[in-house]
Amino acid sequence: MKKATAIHLAYAIAATHFVCTAVAMAQHHQFYAAAGPRVIIPERPLPLIPGPGGSWSPSSQPYENLLVSTPQEQASSVLFDYTDGPNGPDHWGELNADWSLCKSGAQQSPLAITPTLMITDSTLGDLKANYTSKPVNATISHDGLNLKVDVPSSAGELKIYNVTYRPASFHFHRPSEHRILNYSFPLELHLVHKSEDDRMAVIAWLFVPGSTNNSFLAQFLDELPSHKKPYANLEISPINLPTLEPNYGRYRGSLTTPPCSETVIWTVMLWNFPSVSDYQLKQLKSAMPRKNARPSFPSRGRKFRINHTPNWTLMKQAFKDNTY
Ligand SMILES: *[C@@H]1O[C@H](CO)[C@@H](O)[C@H](O)[C@H]1NC(C)=O
Ligand SMILES: *[C@@H]1O[C@H](CO)[C@@H](O)[C@H](O)[C@H]1NC(C)=O
Ligand SMILES: *[C@@H]1O[C@H](CO)[C@@H](O)[C@H](O)[C@H]1NC(C)=O
Ligand SMILES: *[C@@H]1O[C@H](CO)[C@@H](O)[C@H](O)[C@H]1NC(C)=O
Ligand SMILES: *[C@@H]1O[C@H](CO)[C@@H](O)[C@H](O)[C@H]1NC(C)=O
Ligand SMILES: *[C@@H]1O[C@H](CO)[C@@H](O)[C@H](O)[C@H]1NC(C)=O
Ligand SMILES: [Zn+2]
Repeated sequence: MKKATAIHLAYAIAATHFVCTAVAMAQHHQFYAAAGPRVIIPERPLPLIPGPGGSWSPSSQPYENLLVSTPQEQASSVLFDYTDGPNGPDHWGELNADWSLCKSGAQQSPLAITPTLMITDSTLGDLKANYTSKPVNATISHDGLNLKVDVPSSAGELKIYNVTYRPASFHFHRPSEHRILNYSFPLELHLVHKSEDDRMAVIAWLFVPGSTNNSFLAQFLDELPSHKKPYANLEISPINLPTLEPNYGRYRGSLTTPPCSETVIWTVMLWNFPSVSDYQLKQLKSAMPRKNARPSFPSRGRKFRINHTPNWTLMKQAFKDNTY
């Protein structure tokens, strides 16, 4: 087992049976079909993802990484929620004329990830992301419902389809928004990146329940004040960014909050899932008292392209307690 260090997000010990199985298998490299020789091919270029109305406009992109910063955003944050009520996900598209994609969009996120959507695309190759291993200064903000950590753009870069994206911030959803084989995870981390021309790429990590504290999460969860009053801009420094896993899947989707702009390239880390302790889940619940996971969407013709083919026999065993 790769040794966990203070900066490793992904190698904490997992508690549940299926996770132990999955992690152990992944770490012994048996979870995947033989990958064959690795050929370095440029990633397949995809057409640019048009924003609402066919073109990108920065103003159409509010929340995924701006949860608390301006009064305007705060005002809209009270206009939608995650309940079954009139402001819940089923009605986001009706609450504001600018949010119609939440209802009518054909490339919405999160995606319900199922085996039939997965196609191996070896041209994806390894994830072309590079984060500094040095600590960076980060700013944590909290509005009583959401938790966001801003990181400097100098902290790293992610290359997708010839476009360079730089990290901007990360935040959490509980339980997870993405489901794999219909398994819902207790927590999901979104690391939001932006390109110079304001396109977005988000990397998602799904967390499984574990028996030890996750050291990446501890860096900032242990800095949260114990009171629940909203606060903003508590500076924490330094912070280390999560590490990346060799396996991922990619698809085109949207912001998972209004206005649900279909401008996001999603990368979902697969199989070697990081874990979160009960203690840390409690810390997160205290900071984010309400569940904030948007229900998942069908693919509508989209594929979930994975860079390595999994061993389906082993995977189905690992997820055997969960229907899909
Ligand atoms: C998948 O795992 C099973 C069980 O360990 C093994 O028998 C099979 O050979 C593996 N398949 C591939 C393609 O590696
Ligand atoms: C990652 O970034 C560092 C610092 O910018 C650079 O020295 C290194 O070459 C980069 N590594 C890769 C694989 O791009
Ligand atoms: C973080 O901020 C402090 C105070 O502004 C500064 O002294 C320090 O160099 C910064 N650290 C990094 C890694 O940028
Ligand atoms: C990548 O960017 C370079 C420089 O802008 C350009 O020359 C090249 O055609 C681009 N490649 C693709 C596949 O878009
Ligand atoms: C997690 O961290 C908290 C606070 O430091 C500590 O009290 C607790 O014992 C830790 N739990 C585990 C499982 O290590
Ligand atoms: C997915 O799981 C939920 C409960 O978590 C269940 O209601 C639903 O029927 C499942 N979907 C499929 C396609 O099995
Ligand atoms: Zn998110």
